[in-house]
Amino acid sequence: MAKPKLAITADLHWGLPKCQPGNLALIHALRENPPDLLLVGGDQGADTHFTECLDALATIGCPIGLVAGNHDMWVRAEDSRGDSWRVFNQLLPEECRKRGFHNLDQGPWILPQFDLAIVGTMNWYDHSWAAEELANRFPKDTWRLEQMCFTRGRHNDRVYVRWPDGMTNHTVTSLLATQLANHLQFAMEKASQVVLMTHHPALPELGFPPSAREPEPDGTPMDHLLWEAFSGNSMVESLIRLHADRLSLVISGHTHRWRCGTLGKARLVNVGSDYPVKNLIRLDGLEGEMEVEQFGPE
Ligand SMILES: [Fe+2]
Ligand SMILES: [Fe+2]
Repeated sequence: MAKPKLAITADLHWGLPKCQPGNLALIHALRENPPDLLLVGGDQGADTHFTECLDALATIGCPIGLVAGNHDMWVRAEDSRGDSWRVFNQLLPEECRKRGFHNLDQGPWILPQFDLAIVGTMNWYDHSWAAEELANRFPKDTWRLEQMCFTRGRHNDRVYVRWPDGMTNHTVTSLLATQLANHLQFAMEKASQVVLMTHHPALPELGFPPSAREPEPDGTPMDHLLWEAFSGNSMVESLIRLHADRLSLVISGHTHRWRCGTLGKARLVNVGSDYPVKNLIRLDGLEGEMEVEQFGPE
């Protein structure tokens, strides 16, 4: 069976001036040495930057699979594109279809030539990773979960992610987790190797590193609990733990912090691209060594 040359990146945040030197250098490197498959782990770019990012990725000339990220969901109050769910469920899939990209949120990518199936999800948050600890340690501050308020400032998703009436972060989390369970079931029936990619961390092991929970200068312990509350959810975590023996690789993004580890036989990696410095992971076959290249300002 052929071994795929795989490349993985995430959090390009296309169009932000602080990101573009790294983004352009990364696209150039991929064009010079295109992989068999490229996976992109969300936060491609807000608003029109999403399609600009896809146009740039299309110049690489290799098959591409991606998931959406929370920044890709941002809409303005009177946005002509509609609400965040419409952007997620109609517009972004359409933009991917136009370019022949695999939007993993819509369904698994089956690659029989590699005996490989790739599943993915934006993955969302429902506070389940931190609500209990927050209530125990900071009982007067549980209001911060719904308001998404830190001791300093507010999470921008609270302002720019606009679900339609009747939908909340909790219902979106549950919907995406159910979809992922179905996609994963299908993928496991189709191939013996399965790769899973999420934007929001799939597991706490791929979330903010423990060092980020230290007090000052990065914020208070309560702020870190809040960040965890907005990072992932127990439903997807349980699903992954249940099927860990069937997963070759679990990839996440969002935190902008590199992490790697293992869960049973599954390798875990958070891509860790930051705003100015973009990480590109290359793998020669799923068992191969991970090589990480970084692209940023000269
Ligand atoms: Fe990001
Ligand atoms: Fe993100």
